[in-house]
Amino acid sequence: MINILISEFMNEENVKTLKKNFNVRYDKDLFQNEKKIKEEISNFEAIIVRNKTQLQKNVLDNAIKLKFVGRLGVGLDNIDKEHCEKKNIHVQIASGINADSVSEYVIGSSLHLIKNIALFNNETKKGMWPRSSFRSRELKEKIFGLIGFGAIGKKVCKLANNFGAKVISYDPYVDKKLEKEFNLKFVTFEDVITNSDIISIHVPLSNETKNLINSSAFKKMLKKPVLINTSRGSIVNEEDLISAYKNKIISGFALDVFENEPVDEKFYGKIDDTFNCIITPHISGVTEESNKKISEFITNKLINFFN
Ligand SMILES: NC(=O)c1ccc[n+]([C@@H]2O[C@H](COP(=O)([O-])OP(=O)(O)OC[C@H]3O[C@@H](n4cnc5c(N)ncnc54)[C@H](O)[C@@H]3O)[C@@H](O)[C@H]2O)c1
Repeated sequence: MINILISEFMNEENVKTLKKNFNVRYDKDLFQNEKKIKEEISNFEAIIVRNKTQLQKNVLDNAIKLKFVGRLGVGLDNIDKEHCEKKNIHVQIASGINADSVSEYVIGSSLHLIKNIALFNNETKKGMWPRSSFRSRELKEKIFGLIGFGAIGKKVCKLANNFGAKVISYDPYVDKKLEKEFNLKFVTFEDVITNSDIISIHVPLSNETKNLINSSAFKKMLKKPVLINTSRGSIVNEEDLISAYKNKIISGFALDVFENEPVDEKFYGKIDDTFNCIITPHISGVTEESNKKISEFITNKLINFFN
């Protein structure tokens, strides 16, 4: 019988389905113990992970039976895809399946930030009545800049258009014909960061995108935008972000992803109640609905693969 290792949380119903078909070892906290995974992986034909289990060369070299990696989500920065290819291991991502979840988070946080909700909320909770201390703005007519126009970028674009925002995007790898279908304008990276009121990042972490939003990018932001990063932490330089906020180059930020996760004190220690910001523990893609859909998708792919 085929042996499956699941090293991060998965919808329980789908774990049950897998157990009917395979020998399954399910330990949602195993990702924390890389040594154990390295020792055990030689026993398994398949592994199901999220973004925390490290499947790099040192682990994969022990994976003598491994044929299938199921990734409950998108983003492959925790998996050495090239080494998997060399070893003929199929890597299955769940592309686009949590795009509704992430895009709702992006629109929700952009509204929250341009309306200064965090600041109003923090002061009102303390008994103050700061009606005129901060100015709220509307999404309508604002320039909504998307860096990356894949599955999530497209969903955000549709939602932003529904609010009457004007969408621009930088993505050199997509067909420019999409402009008409999605009612947006493709522009350069510099145009997005210079002209946007809201900047949202939807690119994978790669050598090209690492540290993409650094002090030199912040310097080009002319409209005091709010910045939203749901992609990967290392795309935004956290030190430069704090300095841009303190110097009023940006007027707020929402981060769901961090250079180090869990976020370390070196970063969160710099944030206080006077910051117009939202920070969340990498949950923008995780809803009850997306957890079910993603788990079901990977379950079906895995069953088909071994049948
Ligand atoms: N926080 C979360 O819970 C969560 C959930 C899902 C996805 N993500 C992250 O969001 C990212 C985007 O997801 P997606 O589903 O839209 O991916 P996708 O692969 O559908 O789209 C990525 C887009 O980025 C573009 N791109 C690549 N390199 C670029 C560059 N240097 N400059 C501009 N554009 C570039 C690609 O052409 C593509 O259109 C993922 O890579 C993942 O890291 C996070």
